[in-house]
Amino acid sequence: MDQSLRVGILGATGAVGQIFVQLLADHPWFEVTALAASDRSAGRSYRDAVNWIGKNPIPPRIAAMTVAPTEPGLDCDFVFSGLSSSVAGEVERAFAEAGYPVISNAKNYRMQDDVPLLIPEVNPDHIGLIDEQDWGSDGFIVTNPNCSTVGLVCALRPLADAFGVELVQATTLQALSGAGHPGVPSLDALGNVIPYIGGEEDKMTTEPRKLLGAFADGEITPADITVSAQCNRVPVKDGHTSCVSVKLTRDATPEAVREALRSFASPLAGKELPSAPETFIHVDDAPDYPQPDRHVNRGDGMTVSVGRVRPCEVLDIKFVTLVHNTVRGAAGGAVLNAELLAQEGYLMPRRARAAARA
Ligand SMILES: NC(=O)c1ccc[n+]([C@@H]2O[C@H](COP(=O)([O-])OP(=O)(O)OC[C@H]3O[C@@H](n4cnc5c(N)ncnc54)[C@H](OP(=O)(O)O)[C@@H]3O)[C@@H](O)[C@H]2O)c1
Repeated sequence: MDQSLRVGILGATGAVGQIFVQLLADHPWFEVTALAASDRSAGRSYRDAVNWIGKNPIPPRIAAMTVAPTEPGLDCDFVFSGLSSSVAGEVERAFAEAGYPVISNAKNYRMQDDVPLLIPEVNPDHIGLIDEQDWGSDGFIVTNPNCSTVGLVCALRPLADAFGVELVQATTLQALSGAGHPGVPSLDALGNVIPYIGGEEDKMTTEPRKLLGAFADGEITPADITVSAQCNRVPVKDGHTSCVSVKLTRDATPEAVREALRSFASPLAGKELPSAPETFIHVDDAPDYPQPDRHVNRGDGMTVSVGRVRPCEVLDIKFVTLVHNTVRGAAGGAVLNAELLAQEGYLMPRRARAAARA
């Protein structure tokens, strides 16, 4: 990158917004120049508006910034969105129409035909969908998947390539931070399992078909995979675990599956994106790994762990995945998406975008 890009964060005060702040504080390509949140926060300093839950102090420069309303006019080249889905639809549309690239975590546009649902190691070619978008400006929207879907699909990609995947059954154990902040009341969460997360099973069922679909002639043909999901909230702080069984098209031993996961050639190899982890998938051999408390921060939260690969008595193979829900499954995934887009020429300083359009 010749020049750093100026970034706005929509929903900067939320659980995901705070991870954006932490990941972008010293980013080599992106500089935070705008923060925006609800009327409750707008007009206040970030320090006063946010209920900071990060382990380290708020980066001083950002703590002193004033939070703006979530309206176009922010002084930045593109925006990340960690907005609540109740407002993300309207706000992200307004920003795209005003000419901003929007890199979103929210669910609202994930399944729209011309919007990429992107994991750079899984489906980088899907960014070509951006060219199909028309918001009446040069703005666009790119989304990242539901946080549990990310862990599942990162494991399915190598298996789909090596053996074909037909059926998937996934049971999740999802962390409390996945519900945002303040999120689930402590008396509901402590010592308990809640066998329902609104909308989650639908996302896990539909999003993998788009993510693993084929992009050609400006559209995605969804992958022919059937996913059944059961989603549970458990008293874990960070890290979504999924217990997964798959039916493969071609027979494979557990050792062949482990090898396919280990040897998966990331399409990001050689691109030197700052947030790409050295190891995309960490394969655990220990029978009781991966565990959220011990392994969620592998690769600074960007590595997906897969363990317990073994035969399945009902389908073919079963295994366990672990993903950091607010990093790889949210803000970190979005930052990696933006890095790929910047490298591919989709993000540039606003003045350069205007000149390129003229
Ligand atoms: N948590 C995860 O693991 C995770 C993973 C993947 C995707 N996501 C998605 O990411 C988004 C953010 O999740 P979160 O967990 O960070 O939620 P959160 O902690 O509840 O934060 C929501 C953010 O949206 C802002 N907001 C709420 N109502 C608004 C309004 N009417 N106008 C403008 N801004 C408003 C809030 O601002 P105020 O503080 O000013 O109210 C806050 O900054 C959601 O769409 C979620 O589904 C979350």
